[in-house]
Amino acid sequence: GKVAVMLGGDSAERAVSLKSGQAVLEALQQAGVDAFAFDPSEQPLLELTEAATDRVLIMLHGRGGEDGVMQGALEQMGLPYTGSGVLGSALAMDKVRTKQIWQALDLPTPAHKVVHKSRFERAQCADIMRTLGGVVMVKPAREGSSLGMAKVTETQELADAIEQAFTLDERVLLEQFIQGREFTVALLSGQVLPSVSMTTPRVFYDYQAKYEVGSTEYFCPSGLSEPQEQALANLARQAFEAVDASGWGRVDFMQDEQGHFYLLEVNTVPGMTAKSLVPMAAKQAGLNFEQLVMGILATATR
Ligand code: DAL
Ligand code: MG
Repeated sequence: GKVAVMLGGDSAERAVSLKSGQAVLEALQQAGVDAFAFDPSEQPLLELTEAATDRVLIMLHGRGGEDGVMQGALEQMGLPYTGSGVLGSALAMDKVRTKQIWQALDLPTPAHKVVHKSRFERAQCADIMRTLGGVVMVKPAREGSSLGMAKVTETQELADAIEQAFTLDERVLLEQFIQGREFTVALLSGQVLPSVSMTTPRVFYDYQAKYEVGSTEYFCPSGLSEPQEQALANLARQAFEAVDASGWGRVDFMQDEQGHFYLLEVNTVPGMTAKSLVPMAAKQAGLNFEQLVMGILATATR
C-alpha cells in the first residue's frame, strides 16, 4: 500500500517540517516504499483517500500537525498514522500541561510560572523574576524549534519577551533557567536511544543554533557515565509515558552543574533534518537514517 508523508502544514515550523519531510520521503523511496508527499496546507485530506493511502507518516511540526488535531482527523478517516495519539500529541505540544503532569508525578522539571495574554500586566514581572531566580526562559506554551523563546535577566526584558511570545500563543511559560548542559533522549518503539548533548556559543540553543549556524557542537555519545546514562534513559521513558506519548519522540533536558537532570519538554514529531538530533542518536545505536525512518513508519499501528 501507499504511504503519505505529511509535511509542511501552516504552523510556524513549516520550513523545518518541509526539510524533515523531504529527507524522510527520500529515505522511504530509497527503501522501496511507495511513498508520496502530502501537504495538508495545500491539499484537502480527502485526497489521501483518493490516492489509496494506507498509512500516514506524520512529519508535521507544531500546532495543527503535532498537537492531536491531525491525529484526530486521521482517526476519523480510519488511516493509521505514526507516533503519538490525540491525547499524547495534545499534552506534549503544551509545555505548561506537560510540566503540571510531571510535577504531579514528582518528576524533576525547572520551577515555572504561567502568564495569560488576557490578564498580563508588566508590573507582575519584578515578582516573577525574583521567584524564578533572576534568569528566566520565556516560552510560548505551544511552539517548537525555540520560536518565540528568550532568555532574560532583567525585569524590563522579561516583560518585552512575554509580549513578544504572546504573538505566538495566548499562554506563555516562564521557566527558571538551569545553568549547565543540554541533553536530549530519543525513543523509538519502546527503545531508548543513546543521549545527545549540545553546546552553542549563542545565548541558548535557539532556532539559529538548531538549523542555521555551524557553531553548534553535538556530542553523541554524550559523555555521561553508564549509571548517569541509565538514569537519564529511565527519566526519559517516565516523562514520555507520563504525557501519553507513544511510538517515537524526543525528550529534552538540562543538567545543572551538580549533575541533576531537569525535564524541559517532549517532542512527539521531532525534527528529521540533516542537523536534527534523533538521526544522530539512531546512528549511535547502529541505525542508519533509512532504518530509522522504517522504524518510525512501523509505529503507524493505530
Ligand atoms: N520542534 C522541532 C522540530 C524538534 O523538536 O526537533
Ligand atoms: Mg519542542
